[in-house]
Amino acid sequence: MKGVVLAGGLGTRLRPLTSITNKHLLPVYDQPMIFYPLQKLAEAGIRDVMLVTGGNSAGDFLRLLGDGSHFGLDTLNYAYQTGEGGIAEAIGLTEAFVGGDKFIVILGDNILEDSLEPYVETFRKQENGARILLKEVNNPRDYGVAEIEGDRIISIVEKPECPRSSFAVIGVYMYDDYAFEVIDTLQPSARGELEVTDINNAYLSAGKLKADIIEGWWADSGSSIDGLLESGIRARELRVRSKM
Ligand code: G1P
Repeated sequence: MKGVVLAGGLGTRLRPLTSITNKHLLPVYDQPMIFYPLQKLAEAGIRDVMLVTGGNSAGDFLRLLGDGSHFGLDTLNYAYQTGEGGIAEAIGLTEAFVGGDKFIVILGDNILEDSLEPYVETFRKQENGARILLKEVNNPRDYGVAEIEGDRIISIVEKPECPRSSFAVIGVYMYDDYAFEVIDTLQPSARGELEVTDINNAYLSAGKLKADIIEGWWADSGSSIDGLLESGIRARELRVRSKM
């Protein structure tokens, strides 16, 4: 299975910290934010990763991450996203790299406590389709929200005014190559982007979307200054615990 890390965007919610750099290069406790998702993929047994970035700081990722061997990767590949076309557009840029394989996408600002390995293993065994991860949150309006009945997803709505549940769709998505067919058909949303929620809803309509609810904490470090601070505190706790 291939891995994809998305590290584009203008980081407007973190200005002025992001006025002259990419948010994924900002510190989260003792590491640049982008280290965390790369470590999660490597820990889950993913060996070939493509990082999609853009903007003026794109070259800094190459200087910082090099060939990815520091993380235990066999290859680290790079793609450049021009403009602000959204998460689904960024995923579309990885089609040749993914090459018909299954793949896991992680947003570069999502920081997780749990290992992704069990979910990746389940998806390896899943015949086809997609698998997403959910986490109960206090502020579902800020996320894609999944309405669920038992283990069945009924709907996913991007940043709903009136959320039907408190289950956020976190920024970890596992797909087969049908995702690229879907991306080719997507239209920009009201915010002018191709939405990852629309990919997930296409799988849902096809009856091929599965979900797991994660147990440990999840931090969206790029969503706000407070989210960034919380991520740093949580990352520190994890580091202290791992040294005990
Ligand atoms: C994106 C997705 C949203 C998801 C969130 C997780 O939001 O669109 O569905 O819940 O990531 O971090 P964005 O960060 O682009 O606002």
